[in-house]
Amino acid sequence: MIIAIDGPSGAGKSTLGKMLAKKLNLLYLDTGAMYRAVALAVSRAGIGFDQTAKVAEIAENARIDLVGEPDALKIILDGDDVSVDIRTLEAAQAASIVSTISEVRKIMVEHQRQIGMSAAKGCVLEGRDIGSIVFPNADIKFFLTAKPEARARRRHTEDQSKGRLSSYEQTLSEINERDQRDVSREDSPLTIASDAIVIDTSELDLTEVFEQMLAKIDEKFPTAG
Ligand code: DC
Repeated sequence: MIIAIDGPSGAGKSTLGKMLAKKLNLLYLDTGAMYRAVALAVSRAGIGFDQTAKVAEIAENARIDLVGEPDALKIILDGDDVSVDIRTLEAAQAASIVSTISEVRKIMVEHQRQIGMSAAKGCVLEGRDIGSIVFPNADIKFFLTAKPEARARRRHTEDQSKGRLSSYEQTLSEINERDQRDVSREDSPLTIASDAIVIDTSELDLTEVFEQMLAKIDEKFPTAG
């Protein structure tokens, strides 16, 4: 079974994707982490993001592995654990820039399809283009969204709990900037697939969203859970 979860940053995709993967015993694939790892590889190589041919070459040659259980997923770049390094604000912005390059997207999409298709029981993939490009025939597609203010509030609370210093206003402006780039890029912009189930999580807590998603899966595949 392939479950696609798309939506803007901070809508709860990762947390809910992990919860679903665990509950249904499926592989969990955080595709944003892959773009973040490419961005990190590019920065480490000292290459500018405008050198698209070189960036694509790095994306092609980088070995990106996601290992471990959803709750403790580790992102390995060329043998090096970069799980923490890819979560900075800079890495998020850099990933958003790198993900506008078509060559990079082609390589990532191919990689994501291979991982998804080789998962024994199936896979929960979360990102921006899963239901529209990576798995247009996914068994079920969710599009999670929330008002920018709600997403910035969550992100800011999460950052503070991790000891990262930033103001709410900074977080909101960073989210708005990234959203703008993700919806306006030419190749595979963030869009709602026509057959996606849209859930606005602004006023809902995690359990409520999780229950709604499970109910939708159960409606379509009564034996999955
Ligand atoms: O989900 P995230 O914040 O970790 O994603 C980082 C960036 O990667 C995001 O700004 C857009 C890009 N991305 C993408 O273009 N396509 C995906 N499937 C996942 C992420």
